[in-house]
Amino acid sequence: MAKIAIILWVFIYAGSKRDATPYLKPFKKLHYVLKQNENAPYTQITNIIESGLDSILCAPNQTHITTTTGLQVFNVTAQRQIYDLFNSKIAEHPELSGTRVTTEAYSVQGVTKNKGRKSSFSQRDEYILTYFGATNPQDFGLEDYAIQWAKETRDLWNAGQPGRRPTTYLNYAMGDEPLEAMYGYDGQLGRLRRLKRRYDPHNRFQYHNPIVPPNAY
Ligand SMILES: *[C@@H]1O[C@H](CO)[C@@H](O)[C@H](O)[C@H]1NC(C)=O
Ligand SMILES: *[C@@H]1O[C@H](CO)[C@@H](O)[C@H](O)[C@H]1NC(C)=O
Repeated sequence: MAKIAIILWVFIYAGSKRDATPYLKPFKKLHYVLKQNENAPYTQITNIIESGLDSILCAPNQTHITTTTGLQVFNVTAQRQIYDLFNSKIAEHPELSGTRVTTEAYSVQGVTKNKGRKSSFSQRDEYILTYFGATNPQDFGLEDYAIQWAKETRDLWNAGQPGRRPTTYLNYAMGDEPLEAMYGYDGQLGRLRRLKRRYDPHNRFQYHNPIVPPNAY
């Protein structure tokens, strides 16, 4: 039987089940094959959603091919294209059916509150975080294939928000994005570099998409 994407929704609410119920009501109308709900201590949440230290996402020595972009709203057309692309890719290469396409939405009250202020954090207009991740494609000789798929997915998300400049959440970056997409298009890089000179004069923190390249000074 051909493999097909599973759509999984995870809702996390800090509070009682009863208080969460009204927010979940609209989703109850969707047809689902499985529902799980539980109360859990805060410290267990990452394990439950399979992003804890023992999950394949965080386990050591795994290769993750990732892309991302920030969004403001869901574009149904784009999400559908990404879903169709997913199904066509895993039909071609079922070895990669563990690939995940994720959208994350957190409360942005704190982020948007400081929007007007002079801030070196550039992503105050991004309300939805996206993540494409293929794990260990090299085990099947499919690294280039996964990289291509990752980029196509990112392109679809970006095409779904014409007029917005792509932004990149650092932890989910592929590494081919311009630094401005990660740190800001409006002069934030210059400010961050000046701060870095002051607080990290020897450029010790330079490992992951650094704002100053290694050995620059
Ligand atoms: C990761 O892989 C390297 C090379 O195979 C190995 O030396 C190291 O022990 C591994 N680390 C973990 C935490 O598994
Ligand atoms: C949604 O995505 C489609 C496909 O990329 C695009 O043509 C359309 O302009 C987008 N709609 C909006 C409102 O941005």
